Amino acid sequence: MLQRPRRNRRTEALRAMVREIEVTTKDFIYPMFLVDGNGIKNEVKSMPGNFRWSLDLLLEEIEECIALGINSYVLFPAVEEDLKNSTATYSYSDDNFYLKAARTIKERFPQVCLMSDVALDPYSSDGHDGLVQDGIILNDETLPILGKMAVAQAKAGFDIIGPSDMMDGRIEYIREQLDANGYKNIAIMSYTAKYASAFYGPFRDALDSAPKAGDKKTYQMDPANKTEALRELELDEAEGADFVMVKPALAYLDIIHLLKENTNLPVAAYNVSGECAMLHAAAQNGWLDYEKAMSEMLLSIKRAGADVILTYFAKDYAKLIQKQK
Ligand code: PBG
Repeated sequence: MLQRPRRNRRTEALRAMVREIEVTTKDFIYPMFLVDGNGIKNEVKSMPGNFRWSLDLLLEEIEECIALGINSYVLFPAVEEDLKNSTATYSYSDDNFYLKAARTIKERFPQVCLMSDVALDPYSSDGHDGLVQDGIILNDETLPILGKMAVAQAKAGFDIIGPSDMMDGRIEYIREQLDANGYKNIAIMSYTAKYASAFYGPFRDALDSAPKAGDKKTYQMDPANKTEALRELELDEAEGADFVMVKPALAYLDIIHLLKENTNLPVAAYNVSGECAMLHAAAQNGWLDYEKAMSEMLLSIKRAGADVILTYFAKDYAKLIQKQK
């Protein structure tokens, strides 16, 4: 035998030398749930270590995460039921706690990269990402609300605007609105290939944002479709997206790879709530090693082609690699 691949695997020093990729905290955007109020740190049961935070405690948490090397965060609001209505007006209102929180975070930590969520569902009494009329999710009528939300978020200091709603034409519409309002340097990360997935369950529980009726299949993509992701990619590029995203990540590694092979834009992947909950459940039963399986999952997402990973594991992974140093 002339070729023996095992020679390069013999010691850790050799393995480290030939290791092709490495996940670092610089790859991460850490999702955080925000509630109005004070002194609130309320754990999301299915995702241990992830909480609904009030701003005062979130600031302390961000400080801790910065010390661990995590520089980027995406914020999601959990909104009181009585502030929701059918047109999601609270999403861009001046007294929106989410917008105020972003302003405070950026004042306190100007160096962090803050990403927003643009979609109606956290603010909508219907729990859908778009306007609902007679059970139909309206597309074009939703765009002006998304535009107002995006402009209010840019004004509040968000660095990246994150439309997660999957309405057609939203990237172009939001780009135009941002530019017209003086935010031409604020980036858009499009949820390009966002699938109608069962893996969003824990997130909807955390935000109490599940649809009141029906499902999201008329706007989110069919998990059976791959070519359609390329069509969404072409549109997002033409419409001015700065990042393209695949969501979820683990059951869609082929889609991450496909987008990476077909674009020069940075590709992000959203390692969603259900993927995180699944590992915690197995680990709690003693069926999987949490730290090892987490590292392997993150590695697989990066190996598939993700330049950026949105993950609830961000802090645990950061602590893990710090411990290993
Ligand atoms: C909705 C939104 C969802 C997530 C992010 N933004 C859920 C949905 O589409 O119903 C899911 C994130 C996760 O599961 O971690 N705009």
